[in-house]
Amino acid sequence: MPNAMLATAADAGNADGSDLLDTNERLIYFSSSSGNTHRFVEKLGLPATRLPLAGQQVRAGSPFVLVVPTYGADGKGHVPPKVVRFLNDPANRARLTGVIGAGNTNFHDTYGVAADIIAAKCGVPVLYKFELMGTPEDVTRVREGLEELWRRQSKS
Ligand SMILES: Cc1cc2nc3c(=O)[nH]c(=O)nc-3n(C[C@H](O)[C@H](O)[C@H](O)COP(=O)(O)O)c2cc1C
Repeated sequence: MPNAMLATAADAGNADGSDLLDTNERLIYFSSSSGNTHRFVEKLGLPATRLPLAGQQVRAGSPFVLVVPTYGADGKGHVPPKVVRFLNDPANRARLTGVIGAGNTNFHDTYGVAADIIAAKCGVPVLYKFELMGTPEDVTRVREGLEELWRRQSKS
């Protein structure tokens, strides 16, 4: 049941009935209805929370890495609005430890730029970039990189 590891936060509900959904996953991602980033994260086989396309706001309770595809045009709107809303919460920004960017190199200068924008604004590193749903090499490199990062974080 691989999808069990990819809970959409919206599925979780909140005990107090509020619109704020808590997650302690160390990997949080946005993926639009085209689902490329979702497929990449599925291939990682690591527990992850997907930001809901509509509705509830997500609150990160633990340090996390964000995976974000780039959208927009004409130098605007590159960070998806759901991700902007998520990061407008200071508690979420405080727990962000790194960003992984998804995109398409056909966009040249703005390839994966949402990750660069978030990294600059939040003072965290861009850990990796991949195209579309990623190659098998991307999947291996990201999985190994995250496991190493989390090993180091658990020691500090
Ligand atoms: C309207 C639109 C604009 C996009 N703009 C960019 C861009 O500026 N830079 C980039 O790297 N990718 C861009 N992309 C490609 C997406 O980032 C890429 O398809 C990604 O895999 C989408 O992820 P998702 O299916 O999980 O939402 C754009 C795609 C669309 C549909």
